[in-house]
Amino acid sequence: MELTHVCNRGVERKRVDWVPASVQWTNDFEAILRSDANVVVELIGGLDPAGLWVRRALEAGKSVVTGNKKLIAQDGIELEQLARKHKAHLLYGAAVAGGVPVIPGLRHGLVGDQITRIEGILNGTCNYILSRMEDGAQAAEALQDAQARGYAEANPSEDVDGFDARAKLVILARIALRADLRPEEIACRSITGIAAIDFEYARELNCTIRQISRVELRDGKLFATVGPMLVPRTSPLAWSRGTENMVLVGGKYGGDVVFSGHGAGGHPTAVAVVSDLISLAHGGSSIGLPSTPTQVGGEFLLRHSIRLVVHDCPGIIAEIAGALAEHQINIHAIFQRPGYQQEHLPFVVTVEPCTNSALRHALAHFAGKAWLAEPSLDLPILEP
Ligand SMILES: NC(=O)c1ccc[n+]([C@@H]2O[C@H](COP(=O)([O-])OP(=O)(O)OC[C@H]3O[C@@H](n4cnc5c(N)ncnc54)[C@H](OP(=O)(O)O)[C@@H]3O)[C@@H](O)[C@H]2O)c1
Repeated sequence: MELTHVCNRGVERKRVDWVPASVQWTNDFEAILRSDANVVVELIGGLDPAGLWVRRALEAGKSVVTGNKKLIAQDGIELEQLARKHKAHLLYGAAVAGGVPVIPGLRHGLVGDQITRIEGILNGTCNYILSRMEDGAQAAEALQDAQARGYAEANPSEDVDGFDARAKLVILARIALRADLRPEEIACRSITGIAAIDFEYARELNCTIRQISRVELRDGKLFATVGPMLVPRTSPLAWSRGTENMVLVGGKYGGDVVFSGHGAGGHPTAVAVVSDLISLAHGGSSIGLPSTPTQVGGEFLLRHSIRLVVHDCPGIIAEIAGALAEHQINIHAIFQRPGYQQEHLPFVVTVEPCTNSALRHALAHFAGKAWLAEPSLDLPILEP
């Protein structure tokens, strides 16, 4: 393998002296297309012009290696067809979980199984914020810390609201479950709103809180969501710390397989890119198994915990129980830690498995009540 060109904007200020003198530095992507390079590595990110450049490279018969999850989640199927048409390959191992070989693992190591479910921590920024909160930090402090360390953008919405993880989940569902989903079909919930008190109650339930991306094929139906969940400490997903990523893959025959490691950062991501290049140099590509357009729902049947902060007065529990019962939701337990003021009293109600929409309707009953001091927060509980 020989590096022939580096294409970037403003290359003059980006030149480094450790790249061989034979390498041409250019601002002009046309120079790459005209060259005899047979692989293009796209690492500029975003949809435009990255999408155009990837298409033009494939049309010119050049294989493409990319880490661009946004582009692959949106146009991956079309781009793979384009690659096949021009006898080129498209590899994107870095697009999900950076240096953790989840995509090659699914494409090669687990292709013989029938995958039925994926549960993962796919966004290192959220995992960093939530594991800092688990250690006692307030939400705002954890976010500021993530920003200071370069883990979170000034506008962290893409990460904390779940859009980054959702793009990765779409890619994994396509490869593992052969399901062709659109990112916007997957319900996303933000981790904003989670407070230090939620970790205190999570501990009572022998759980922690993580942003979980999950997709499951059950009775021919596909369910997928991204959002914060209570994760039992017995689950490997509870053990991931800091910016780590973790993906649990459930197969019909092989059972559960866990991938974990550094999901981002220059070096781990470079490992994924170079591994794809070496795989190409071996002539290797995976078999392009077709994926079919699939309708997705977000209605997992799960236990939930509901955190309420109230101005304490008689009859509150009766009202809550009544609203839940009206929607056929059974209370499992009520937890109230001592040491809080009556005027601002937090407690948690856990409920037996129910759908999200039933719970939402029940919670709407007491959304405007005078005794409610803060909006309630409900968290689904991941089955161990
Ligand atoms: N960073 C990670 O840990 C990680 C992990 C997995 C996947 N990825 C994926 O890898 C890709 C790159 O991420 P990154 O973090 O390396 O981004 P980055 O630090 O912003 O680097 C992008 C580079 O591309 C250049 N660039 C952007 N738009 C360009 C354009 N229109 N023309 C020419 N050059 C352009 C940028 O130049 P300027 O500096 O002038 O803007 C910069 O040098 C993204 O798709 C990302 O999702 C990243």
